Amino acid sequence: MASQTGIVTDLFRQQFGVPPEGIERAPGRVNLIGEHTDYTLGFVLPIAIQLAAYAAWRRTTSGYLRVYSTSFGQQRAWPAGELAGLTSAHEWSDYVAGVAVELERAGYSVPSMDVLIHSTVPTGAGLSSSAALEISIALALLGGRVIDPVALARLARAAENDFAGMPCGIMDQFVCVFGQENAAIQIDCRSLEHEPVPLPQDAAIFAVNTMVKHELGQSAYRERVRECGEALAALGTRYPEVHSLRDATSEMVEECRAAMPANVYLRALHVTGENRRVIEFVEASRAGDLQRMGHLFYASHASLAGSYEVSCEELDFLVEEARSTSGIYGARMTGGGFGGCTVNLARPDSAEAAGARLAARYRQRYGRDPRIYTCRPSNGARNVFREQSPAAGTIKSSQSE
Ligand code: GLA
Repeated sequence: MASQTGIVTDLFRQQFGVPPEGIERAPGRVNLIGEHTDYTLGFVLPIAIQLAAYAAWRRTTSGYLRVYSTSFGQQRAWPAGELAGLTSAHEWSDYVAGVAVELERAGYSVPSMDVLIHSTVPTGAGLSSSAALEISIALALLGGRVIDPVALARLARAAENDFAGMPCGIMDQFVCVFGQENAAIQIDCRSLEHEPVPLPQDAAIFAVNTMVKHELGQSAYRERVRECGEALAALGTRYPEVHSLRDATSEMVEECRAAMPANVYLRALHVTGENRRVIEFVEASRAGDLQRMGHLFYASHASLAGSYEVSCEELDFLVEEARSTSGIYGARMTGGGFGGCTVNLARPDSAEAAGARLAARYRQRYGRDPRIYTCRPSNGARNVFREQSPAAGTIKSSQSE
Protein backbone atom coordinates (compact mmCIF):
# COMPACT_ATOMS: atom_id res chain seq x y z
CA MET A 1 0.00 0.00 0.00
CA ALA A 2 1.31 3.45 -0.88
CA SER A 3 2.57 5.50 2.07
CA GLN A 4 0.70 8.65 3.01
CA THR A 5 3.81 10.62 2.02
CA GLY A 6 3.66 9.05 -1.45
CA ILE A 7 -0.07 9.75 -1.78
CA VAL A 8 0.37 13.37 -0.71
CA THR A 9 3.31 13.84 -3.09
CA ASP A 10 1.17 12.63 -6.00
CA LEU A 11 -1.77 14.83 -4.99
CA PHE A 12 0.52 17.87 -4.79
CA ARG A 13 1.98 17.13 -8.22
CA GLN A 14 -1.52 16.75 -9.72
CA GLN A 15 -2.60 20.06 -8.25
CA PHE A 16 0.47 22.22 -8.80
CA GLY A 17 2.36 20.41 -11.58
CA VAL A 18 5.59 19.99 -9.58
CA PRO A 19 6.60 17.83 -6.61
CA PRO A 20 6.49 19.30 -3.11
CA GLU A 21 9.57 20.69 -1.41
CA GLY A 22 8.48 19.42 2.00
CA ILE A 23 5.68 17.51 3.73
CA GLU A 24 4.65 18.07 7.35
CA ARG A 25 2.61 15.57 9.33
CA ALA A 26 0.53 16.48 12.40
CA PRO A 27 -1.55 13.85 14.26
CA GLY A 28 -5.09 13.87 15.62
CA ARG A 29 -5.63 12.84 19.23
CA VAL A 30 -7.79 10.84 21.58
CA ASN A 31 -8.10 12.22 25.06
CA LEU A 32 -7.97 9.37 27.60
CA ILE A 33 -9.18 11.41 30.57
CA GLY A 34 -9.30 15.03 31.73
CA GLU A 35 -12.23 16.25 29.63
CA HIS A 36 -13.26 19.91 29.65
CA THR A 37 -10.49 20.72 32.11
CA ASP A 38 -7.91 22.38 29.83
CA TYR A 39 -9.50 25.83 29.55
CA THR A 40 -9.63 26.10 33.33
CA LEU A 41 -5.91 25.23 33.41
CA GLY A 42 -6.29 21.73 34.82
CA PHE A 43 -4.90 18.32 33.89
CA VAL A 44 -5.43 16.26 30.74
CA LEU A 45 -4.11 12.92 29.48
CA PRO A 46 -4.38 12.63 25.69
CA ILE A 47 -2.52 10.45 23.17
CA ALA A 48 -1.58 11.53 19.67
CA ILE A 49 -2.91 8.94 17.20
CA GLN A 50 -1.82 7.56 13.85
CA LEU A 51 -4.51 9.48 11.90
CA ALA A 52 -2.97 12.76 10.77
CA ALA A 53 -3.12 15.88 8.62
CA TYR A 54 -0.44 16.31 5.97
CA ALA A 55 0.60 19.66 4.54
CA ALA A 56 2.80 19.50 1.44
CA TRP A 57 4.43 22.75 0.32
CA ARG A 58 6.72 24.44 -2.16
CA ARG A 59 7.95 28.01 -2.17
CA THR A 60 7.04 29.90 -5.33
CA THR A 61 7.60 33.27 -6.97
CA SER A 62 3.87 33.89 -7.66
CA GLY A 63 3.53 36.41 -4.83
CA TYR A 64 0.59 34.39 -3.46
CA LEU A 65 -0.06 31.91 -0.71
CA ARG A 66 -2.17 29.30 -2.52
CA VAL A 67 -3.75 26.50 -0.54
CA TYR A 68 -5.66 23.49 -1.82
CA SER A 69 -7.72 21.23 0.46
CA THR A 70 -8.31 17.68 -0.77
CA SER A 71 -11.25 17.29 1.65
CA PHE A 72 -13.10 20.23 0.13
CA GLY A 73 -11.66 20.02 -3.40
CA GLN A 74 -11.18 23.79 -3.20
CA GLN A 75 -8.33 26.24 -3.52
CA ARG A 76 -7.89 29.64 -1.88
CA ALA A 77 -5.21 32.25 -2.55
CA TRP A 78 -4.10 35.42 -0.79
CA PRO A 79 -1.35 37.93 -1.69
CA ALA A 80 1.60 36.89 0.48
CA GLY A 81 2.25 40.47 1.58
CA GLU A 82 -1.28 40.95 2.92
CA LEU A 83 -1.60 37.94 5.21
CA ALA A 84 -1.30 39.87 8.48
CA GLY A 85 -4.59 41.67 7.76
CA LEU A 86 -6.77 38.64 6.91
CA THR A 87 -10.12 38.20 8.65
CA SER A 88 -12.36 35.15 9.07
CA ALA A 89 -14.23 33.81 6.01
CA HIS A 90 -16.14 31.33 8.21
CA GLU A 91 -15.00 28.31 6.24
CA TRP A 92 -12.20 25.71 6.15
CA SER A 93 -9.61 28.22 4.98
CA ASP A 94 -9.85 30.00 8.34
CA TYR A 95 -7.45 27.41 9.75
CA VAL A 96 -4.87 28.41 7.14
CA ALA A 97 -5.51 32.15 7.32
CA GLY A 98 -5.60 32.16 11.14
CA VAL A 99 -2.26 30.37 11.37
CA ALA A 100 -0.74 32.71 8.76
CA VAL A 101 -1.91 35.74 10.76
CA GLU A 102 -0.43 34.34 13.98
CA LEU A 103 2.88 33.50 12.30
CA GLU A 104 3.12 37.03 10.89
CA ARG A 105 2.30 38.41 14.33
CA ALA A 106 5.08 36.30 15.86
CA GLY A 107 7.57 37.70 13.35
CA TYR A 108 7.65 34.77 10.90
CA SER A 109 6.85 36.33 7.58
CA VAL A 110 5.02 33.82 5.36
CA PRO A 111 6.54 33.58 1.88
CA SER A 112 4.82 33.07 -1.43
CA MET A 113 3.99 29.37 -1.44
CA ASP A 114 1.78 26.54 -2.71
CA VAL A 115 0.35 24.24 -0.04
CA LEU A 116 -1.80 21.12 -0.31
CA ILE A 117 -3.56 19.78 2.75
CA HIS A 118 -4.74 16.21 3.03
CA SER A 119 -6.07 14.73 6.25
CA THR A 120 -6.98 11.25 7.44
CA VAL A 121 -8.45 12.62 10.69
CA PRO A 122 -12.27 12.56 10.36
CA THR A 123 -13.90 15.93 10.97
CA GLY A 124 -16.55 16.34 13.65
CA ALA A 125 -15.43 13.11 15.35
CA GLY A 126 -13.84 14.73 18.40
CA LEU A 127 -10.39 13.54 17.28
CA SER A 128 -9.05 17.05 16.85
CA SER A 129 -8.89 17.37 13.10
CA SER A 130 -8.61 21.15 13.48
CA ALA A 131 -5.47 21.13 15.67
CA ALA A 132 -3.89 18.64 13.26
CA LEU A 133 -4.63 21.04 10.40
CA GLU A 134 -3.36 24.09 12.26
CA ILE A 135 -0.08 22.50 13.28
CA SER A 136 0.64 20.90 9.89
CA ILE A 137 -0.08 24.21 8.17
CA ALA A 138 2.06 26.17 10.62
CA LEU A 139 4.99 23.85 9.90
CA ALA A 140 4.40 24.14 6.15
CA LEU A 141 4.25 27.94 6.25
CA LEU A 142 7.44 27.97 8.31
CA GLY A 143 9.03 26.06 5.41
CA GLY A 144 11.79 24.51 7.50
CA ARG A 145 12.40 27.47 9.82
CA VAL A 146 12.90 26.44 13.43
CA ILE A 147 10.24 27.21 16.05
CA ASP A 148 10.04 26.44 19.75
CA PRO A 149 7.49 23.59 20.16
CA VAL A 150 5.58 25.29 22.99
CA ALA A 151 5.41 28.49 20.92
CA LEU A 152 4.07 26.42 18.01
CA ALA A 153 1.27 24.93 20.15
CA ARG A 154 0.39 28.33 21.60
CA LEU A 155 0.34 29.94 18.19
CA ALA A 156 -2.02 27.32 16.74
CA ARG A 157 -4.32 27.66 19.74
CA ALA A 158 -4.32 31.44 19.30
CA ALA A 159 -5.40 30.93 15.67
CA GLU A 160 -8.35 28.86 16.86
CA ASN A 161 -9.24 31.26 19.72
CA ASP A 162 -8.82 34.59 17.97
CA PHE A 163 -9.44 33.82 14.32
CA ALA A 164 -11.85 30.91 14.26
CA GLY A 165 -13.50 32.23 17.47
CA MET A 166 -13.40 28.94 19.45
CA PRO A 167 -12.36 29.53 23.09
CA CYS A 168 -10.68 26.10 23.31
CA GLY A 169 -7.92 25.17 25.76
CA ILE A 170 -4.44 24.08 24.72
CA MET A 171 -4.77 20.29 24.96
CA ASP A 172 -5.27 19.47 21.27
CA GLN A 173 -2.49 21.64 19.87
CA PHE A 174 -0.13 20.65 22.66
CA VAL A 175 -0.46 16.88 22.26
CA CYS A 176 -0.36 17.29 18.49
CA VAL A 177 3.16 18.69 18.96
CA PHE A 178 4.34 16.67 21.97
CA GLY A 179 2.73 13.25 21.33
CA GLN A 180 4.92 10.20 21.84
CA GLU A 181 4.88 6.64 20.60
CA ASN A 182 3.78 4.19 23.30
CA ALA A 183 2.77 6.77 25.91
CA ALA A 184 -0.03 9.11 26.85
CA ILE A 185 1.00 12.67 27.68
CA GLN A 186 -0.05 14.13 31.02
CA ILE A 187 -0.26 17.89 30.60
CA ASP A 188 -0.57 20.51 33.28
CA CYS A 189 -2.47 23.11 31.28
CA ARG A 190 -1.27 25.94 33.53
CA SER A 191 2.49 25.39 33.72
CA LEU A 192 2.53 23.37 30.47
CA GLU A 193 4.74 20.84 32.23
CA HIS A 194 4.15 17.52 30.55
CA GLU A 195 5.19 13.97 31.14
CA PRO A 196 4.86 10.74 29.18
CA VAL A 197 2.71 8.16 30.97
CA PRO A 198 3.35 4.62 29.72
CA LEU A 199 0.18 2.59 29.31
CA PRO A 200 0.01 -1.05 30.47
CA GLN A 201 1.16 -3.50 27.79
CA ASP A 202 -2.09 -5.43 28.02
CA ALA A 203 -4.31 -2.45 27.17
CA ALA A 204 -5.78 -1.66 23.78
CA ILE A 205 -7.50 1.61 22.96
CA PHE A 206 -10.10 2.09 20.30
CA ALA A 207 -12.51 4.87 19.44
CA VAL A 208 -16.05 4.38 18.16
CA ASN A 209 -17.46 7.19 16.04
CA THR A 210 -21.18 7.83 16.55
CA MET A 211 -21.11 9.58 13.14
CA VAL A 212 -23.23 12.38 14.61
CA LYS A 213 -22.27 15.93 15.51
CA HIS A 214 -25.10 17.81 17.13
CA GLU A 215 -25.40 21.50 16.25
CA LEU A 216 -25.43 22.55 19.88
CA GLY A 217 -21.74 21.70 20.30
CA GLN A 218 -20.08 25.07 19.58
CA SER A 219 -22.50 27.25 21.49
CA ALA A 220 -22.54 24.84 24.44
CA TYR A 221 -18.72 24.91 24.55
CA ARG A 222 -18.75 28.71 24.84
CA GLU A 223 -21.48 28.43 27.45
CA ARG A 224 -19.39 25.98 29.52
CA VAL A 225 -16.36 28.29 29.37
CA ARG A 226 -18.58 31.12 30.64
CA GLU A 227 -20.15 28.97 33.37
CA CYS A 228 -16.69 27.96 34.61
CA GLY A 229 -15.84 31.66 34.85
CA GLU A 230 -18.95 32.18 36.93
CA ALA A 231 -18.01 29.30 39.23
CA LEU A 232 -14.54 30.78 39.67
CA ALA A 233 -15.97 34.18 40.62
CA ALA A 234 -18.16 32.56 43.28
CA LEU A 235 -15.31 30.45 44.65
CA GLY A 236 -12.88 33.38 44.56
CA THR A 237 -14.88 35.51 46.99
CA ARG A 238 -14.55 32.81 49.64
CA TYR A 239 -11.18 31.36 48.63
CA PRO A 240 -8.93 34.14 47.30
CA GLU A 241 -6.20 31.56 46.64
CA VAL A 242 -8.36 30.00 43.90
CA HIS A 243 -7.14 31.65 40.68
CA SER A 244 -8.63 29.09 38.31
CA LEU A 245 -10.96 26.11 38.81
CA ARG A 246 -7.82 24.04 38.81
CA ASP A 247 -7.04 25.38 42.31
CA ALA A 248 -10.43 24.34 43.69
CA THR A 249 -11.45 21.05 45.28
CA SER A 250 -14.86 19.39 45.23
CA GLU A 251 -15.17 20.24 48.95
CA MET A 252 -14.71 23.95 48.19
CA VAL A 253 -17.38 23.71 45.51
CA GLU A 254 -19.77 22.12 48.04
CA GLU A 255 -18.98 24.92 50.50
CA CYS A 256 -19.88 27.56 47.92
CA ARG A 257 -22.89 25.76 46.49
CA ALA A 258 -25.37 28.35 47.75
CA ALA A 259 -23.44 31.12 46.02
CA MET A 260 -23.87 29.58 42.54
CA PRO A 261 -26.77 28.79 40.24
CA ALA A 262 -27.43 25.02 40.12
CA ASN A 263 -25.92 24.54 36.64
CA VAL A 264 -22.74 26.44 37.57
CA TYR A 265 -22.34 24.31 40.70
CA LEU A 266 -22.61 21.14 38.61
CA ARG A 267 -20.01 22.36 36.07
CA ALA A 268 -17.54 23.14 38.87
CA LEU A 269 -18.17 19.76 40.44
CA HIS A 270 -17.30 18.05 37.17
CA VAL A 271 -14.07 20.00 36.70
CA THR A 272 -12.76 19.41 40.23
CA GLY A 273 -13.67 15.71 40.10
CA GLU A 274 -12.18 15.27 36.63
CA ASN A 275 -8.85 16.84 37.60
CA ARG A 276 -8.66 14.37 40.47
CA ARG A 277 -9.54 11.50 38.14
CA VAL A 278 -6.61 12.36 35.86
CA ILE A 279 -4.17 12.00 38.76
CA GLU A 280 -5.82 8.74 39.86
CA PHE A 281 -5.80 7.38 36.31
CA VAL A 282 -2.09 8.10 35.94
CA GLU A 283 -1.41 6.25 39.20
CA ALA A 284 -3.56 3.31 38.09
CA SER A 285 -1.82 3.21 34.72
CA ARG A 286 1.63 3.18 36.31
CA ALA A 287 0.43 0.34 38.57
CA GLY A 288 -1.02 -1.56 35.59
CA ASP A 289 -4.44 -1.53 37.27
CA LEU A 290 -6.71 -1.79 34.23
CA GLN A 291 -9.87 -2.36 36.29
CA ARG A 292 -9.33 0.93 38.08
CA MET A 293 -8.52 2.73 34.83
CA GLY A 294 -11.76 1.40 33.34
CA HIS A 295 -13.74 2.44 36.39
CA LEU A 296 -12.35 5.98 36.07
CA PHE A 297 -13.39 6.06 32.39
CA TYR A 298 -16.98 5.29 33.36
CA ALA A 299 -16.90 7.80 36.23
CA SER A 300 -15.61 10.48 33.86
CA HIS A 301 -18.40 9.78 31.40
CA ALA A 302 -21.08 9.86 34.09
CA SER A 303 -19.82 13.26 35.21
CA LEU A 304 -19.64 14.65 31.66
CA ALA A 305 -23.17 13.43 30.97
CA GLY A 306 -24.78 14.26 34.32
CA SER A 307 -22.94 17.31 35.66
CA TYR A 308 -21.28 18.91 32.65
CA GLU A 309 -24.10 18.00 30.24
CA VAL A 310 -22.00 17.68 27.11
CA SER A 311 -22.88 14.10 26.15
CA CYS A 312 -25.73 12.97 23.90
CA GLU A 313 -27.96 9.94 23.49
CA GLU A 314 -25.70 8.18 20.99
CA LEU A 315 -22.58 8.54 23.16
CA ASP A 316 -24.46 7.38 26.26
CA PHE A 317 -25.75 4.37 24.33
CA LEU A 318 -22.24 3.30 23.29
CA VAL A 319 -20.90 3.72 26.84
CA GLU A 320 -23.79 1.70 28.30
CA GLU A 321 -23.27 -1.03 25.72
CA ALA A 322 -19.56 -1.13 26.56
CA ARG A 323 -20.47 -2.09 30.12
CA SER A 324 -22.04 -5.33 28.93
CA THR A 325 -19.41 -6.07 26.28
CA SER A 326 -16.81 -8.61 27.33
CA GLY A 327 -13.18 -7.49 27.19
CA ILE A 328 -13.88 -3.77 27.73
CA TYR A 329 -12.53 -2.25 30.96
CA GLY A 330 -14.12 1.14 30.48
CA ALA A 331 -15.54 3.64 27.99
CA ARG A 332 -16.30 7.35 27.87
CA MET A 333 -16.95 10.16 25.43
CA THR A 334 -13.78 11.88 24.24
CA GLY A 335 -13.33 15.47 23.05
CA GLY A 336 -15.84 18.29 23.23
CA GLY A 337 -18.95 16.05 23.18
CA PHE A 338 -22.42 16.35 21.57
CA GLY A 339 -21.43 13.55 19.20
CA GLY A 340 -18.10 12.35 17.91
CA CYS A 341 -16.38 9.37 19.50
CA THR A 342 -16.24 7.25 22.60
CA VAL A 343 -12.85 5.97 23.71
CA ASN A 344 -12.68 2.38 24.94
CA LEU A 345 -10.07 0.64 27.03
CA ALA A 346 -10.01 -3.05 26.20
CA ARG A 347 -8.08 -6.29 26.42
CA PRO A 348 -5.94 -6.52 23.27
CA ASP A 349 -7.18 -10.03 22.43
CA SER A 350 -10.85 -8.99 22.73
CA ALA A 351 -10.73 -5.47 21.28
CA GLU A 352 -11.73 -6.46 17.76
CA ALA A 353 -14.69 -8.57 18.81
CA ALA A 354 -15.75 -5.94 21.35
CA GLY A 355 -15.67 -3.23 18.65
CA ALA A 356 -17.68 -5.43 16.29
CA ARG A 357 -20.32 -6.02 18.95
CA LEU A 358 -20.62 -2.30 19.72
CA ALA A 359 -20.92 -1.55 16.01
CA ALA A 360 -23.64 -4.16 15.56
CA ARG A 361 -25.62 -2.88 18.54
CA TYR A 362 -25.29 0.71 17.36
CA ARG A 363 -26.40 -0.18 13.84
CA GLN A 364 -29.41 -2.03 15.25
CA ARG A 365 -30.39 0.96 17.38
CA TYR A 366 -29.65 3.92 15.08
CA GLY A 367 -29.49 2.35 11.61
CA ARG A 368 -26.07 3.90 11.10
CA ASP A 369 -22.64 2.28 10.76
CA PRO A 370 -20.23 3.62 13.35
CA ARG A 371 -16.56 3.77 12.38
CA ILE A 372 -14.00 2.19 14.64
CA TYR A 373 -10.44 3.45 14.96
CA THR A 374 -7.72 1.46 16.67
CA CYS A 375 -5.64 4.08 18.48
CA ARG A 376 -1.92 3.61 18.93
CA PRO A 377 -0.08 6.36 20.80
CA SER A 378 1.94 8.10 18.09
CA ASN A 379 4.59 10.73 17.70
CA GLY A 380 3.83 14.42 17.55
CA ALA A 381 4.07 16.65 14.49
CA ARG A 382 7.15 16.53 12.32
CA ASN A 383 8.57 16.90 8.87
CA VAL A 384 8.23 13.62 6.94
CA PHE A 385 9.76 14.68 3.64
CA ARG A 386 12.25 17.32 2.68
CA GLU A 387 13.77 17.78 -0.75
CA GLN A 388 17.49 18.46 -0.43
CA SER A 389 18.81 21.60 -2.02
CA PRO A 390 19.33 20.81 -5.74
CA ALA A 391 22.53 22.85 -5.51
CA ALA A 392 23.93 20.05 -3.35
CA GLY A 393 23.85 17.81 -6.42
CA THR A 394 21.29 15.20 -5.37
CA ILE A 395 17.63 15.35 -4.59
CA LYS A 396 17.24 13.00 -1.70
CA SER A 397 14.03 12.06 -0.03
CA SER A 398 13.82 10.88 3.55
CA GLN A 399 10.45 9.25 3.72
CA SER A 400 9.51 8.20 7.19
CA GLU A 401 6.10 7.80 8.75
C1 GLA B 1 -12.24 20.35 22.45
C2 GLA B 1 -11.26 21.51 22.69
C3 GLA B 1 -10.21 21.13 23.74
C4 GLA B 1 -10.88 20.59 25.00
C5 GLA B 1 -11.90 19.50 24.66
C6 GLA B 1 -12.66 19.03 25.85
O1 GLA B 1 -11.56 19.28 21.86
O2 GLA B 1 -10.61 21.85 21.50
O3 GLA B 1 -9.40 22.27 24.04
O4 GLA B 1 -11.46 21.60 25.75
O5 GLA B 1 -12.82 19.95 23.68
O6 GLA B 1 -11.82 18.41 26.76
